[in-house]
Amino acid sequence: MSTRPILIRPMQADDVPAMLAVQAQCYPPHMNEPADVLLARWQACGDTAWVACDAQGQVAAYLVAYRSVWGKVSPLGQAFAHAAQPEVLYLHDLAIGQALRGQGAAQALVAAARQLAQAQALQGSTLVSVNGSLAFWQRLGWQVMSLEAAGQRALATYADDAVYMGWRPTW
Ligand SMILES: CC(C)(COP(=O)(O)OP(=O)(O)OC[C@H]1O[C@@H](n2cnc3c(N)ncnc32)[C@H](O)[C@@H]1OP(=O)(O)O)[C@@H](O)C(=O)NCCC(=O)NCCS
Repeated sequence: MSTRPILIRPMQADDVPAMLAVQAQCYPPHMNEPADVLLARWQACGDTAWVACDAQGQVAAYLVAYRSVWGKVSPLGQAFAHAAQPEVLYLHDLAIGQALRGQGAAQALVAAARQLAQAQALQGSTLVSVNGSLAFWQRLGWQVMSLEAAGQRALATYADDAVYMGWRPTW
């Protein structure tokens, strides 16, 4: 196991192939989003996308997000656009490659997102928990939130265990 600190840096366009490999390790095939979608999101919202590198400097994890509003859910595969009057940072996908699991990469990426949310005076952060990650997000302070009908329809594009969650800081 590496003892080096995990390097977190902004995502770049040429990180997409490595991100696809991480994604394939983390989700079943029907939940994998294609390269052109990842690239278009970076072009629209690259200031809220981060990668984590392993000891060899290779991209081994990522977090992609955008500024949004309470109650809005991003359907699987849809483009990102920052809200004109944002309230929250919406974390669309946090994925840690198998080799980097359990070494704090997820917490480091979430910390980068929280720092940005605070710096931009947002009210908090939202996300859709999938893949059995509910307890993970609860440990980090997110709570289950209810959704209106439009949000429920977007939530239905995910797996059956999908849950909408929100976090309000005390800063
Ligand atoms: C869930 C995931 C992001 C956690 O990554 P990780 O590398 O294990 O996270 P970290 O090493 O930063 O650990 C953070 C803490 O959460 C805990 N944790 C990790 N997975 C957990 C889970 N499924 N349930 C509860 N706690 C969990 C860790 O034990 C650790 O606790 P500690 O601080 O007491 O040691 C990772 O397993 C992953 O990428 N899974 C596949 C993709 C996915 O499901 N993403 C979330 C979609 S919403």
